Amino acid sequence: MKIKSICCIGAGYVGGPTMAVIAQKCPQVKVTVVDINEARINAWNDKDLSKLPVYEPGLDKVVEEARGRNLFFSTQVDQAIDEADMVFISVNTPTKTYGKGKGMAADLKYIELCARQIARVATTDKIVVEKSTLPVRTASAIKSILDNTNGKDVKFQILSNPEFLAEGTAVTDLLNPDRVLIGGDNDTTEGKEAIEALVSIYANWVPKEQILTTNVWSSELSKLTANAFLAQRVSSINSLSELCEKTEADVNEVAKAIGMDSRIGSKFLKASVGFGGSCFQKDILNLVYIAKTYGLTEVADYWEQVIIMNDHQKRRFAHNIISTLFNTVSGKKIAFLGWAFKKDTNDTRESAAIYVADELLSEQSQISVYDPKVETEQMYTDLDYLNTRSSEENRSGLSVTQDPYETCKDAHAIAILTEWDEFKTYDWQKIYDQMQKPAFLFDGRGLLDIPKLEEIGFVCYKIGSSNKNL
Ligand code: UDX
Ligand code: UDX
Ligand code: ADP
Repeated sequence: MKIKSICCIGAGYVGGPTMAVIAQKCPQVKVTVVDINEARINAWNDKDLSKLPVYEPGLDKVVEEARGRNLFFSTQVDQAIDEADMVFISVNTPTKTYGKGKGMAADLKYIELCARQIARVATTDKIVVEKSTLPVRTASAIKSILDNTNGKDVKFQILSNPEFLAEGTAVTDLLNPDRVLIGGDNDTTEGKEAIEALVSIYANWVPKEQILTTNVWSSELSKLTANAFLAQRVSSINSLSELCEKTEADVNEVAKAIGMDSRIGSKFLKASVGFGGSCFQKDILNLVYIAKTYGLTEVADYWEQVIIMNDHQKRRFAHNIISTLFNTVSGKKIAFLGWAFKKDTNDTRESAAIYVADELLSEQSQISVYDPKVETEQMYTDLDYLNTRSSEENRSGLSVTQDPYETCKDAHAIAILTEWDEFKTYDWQKIYDQMQKPAFLFDGRGLLDIPKLEEIGFVCYKIGSSNKNL
């Protein structure tokens, strides 16, 4: 089966960039990305490419090349579904905030709505591809919904094609993936044909040996566990950062020494204020929930510890600021450089900055934030979502500026929450001169040249070293 038309439901951080690259690399295939959020679709269609709703280095160029040629963004969901031979489901699957599995299980209501919509409008056979991260065995739920087409003669094949792109590097990750994973019903001819149809899309730019095909369940579980393993490495190194601070070891030296063992490898060993992002925590909670569902207590506890360590790391960073500032931050201005969960993205989901801000606001500090890409309203939405205090209180406790020097002016302390490259290029002498003294600096990302800052006069805290001067 040759795919001529693709529809992707969900124009977010995953759907948008993924479809833009597929359209760029497969000019013969019409790709339509649909979303119920009209403002988001309008932003994807904006002539001004700096207004795209997702900030990713290089994405504007890809969209510019393909948009209007074979890449379209639309709110006409039904029409796009019916026109397509292949439908990607790329909607959000947040952690449930209510009922059974609250705080752990994935909320599949958006996925289910999509499946029902596809079943309702389809008049021709379709391959339905799960792109969103989903708990294992979601495909069977989607299948039973799809098979219920009220007597229409329409057949569906379900594939799992998890996304491994990381935000901030989405375009390069999509162009040069370590692997593409496609899970399907490899026991039947129709299933094998569906798998081959998707393989042939990726084969336009990915070498065949990097395209793995598995059964659906292996594919679904691999996505959850790849993220769990990555997050586990960050929590492992973060746990050592606390030990290093108590001893004379330096976490960067330790990370380098262990990472050079080829069996361990050097990536994902950077100590930080804690991992964030839409996937790590959600996927681990999901894994824990699934393990518990099968009565596997030890397995669940093992993975849950990765989250416990991460929560501890975020809280520890905030408490360190409070204790260093003579045990009170009440009424003191604390400058935050960075709000995004990592550099080169405007995404803030589960960002460590939100939790650190929440702790400091509870101690009545005045926070001023600068982030080069995050919108002000997003920061308030993030804080309001925690429900710790009223929206008005969040707005009076936290202010946002578009100028880093303004953010740091008169501050008692600066906290680096995101590793944006531009922070390294600032005139740190000028920042120091305009701060309260002692001028404290807490580098939550191991980003800045600390000896140089200490020479200027800053009193610095860096994650994972003994910090003798504090
Ligand atoms: C280990 C370290 O590898 C070595 O660097 C250090 O100097 C001493 O400890 P060793 O104990 O000899 O070496 O063997 P290793 O190959 O690391 O295996 C340790 C155990 O883990 C073995 O029982 C092995 O069977 C098991 N293992 C290893 C697995 O079960 N799965 C694996 O993927 C790897
Ligand atoms: C992750 C996976 O990497 C990706 O494959 C999957 O598709 C989605 O989830 P993402 O969340 O975009 O991608 O970012 P990632 O680069 O993995 O970083 C996650 C968090 O871990 C960030 O907050 C980052 O700052 C932190 N991190 C990462 C560290 O603190 N130290 C590290 O060494 C690496
Ligand atoms: P991700 O990081 O998984 O891409 P996002 O939240 O960025 O998550 O994007 C998911 C998108 O899916 C949102 O823009 C949301 O409006 C859209 N969406 C959710 N449900 C539906 C639906 N039934 N039909 C169309 N779009 C949907």
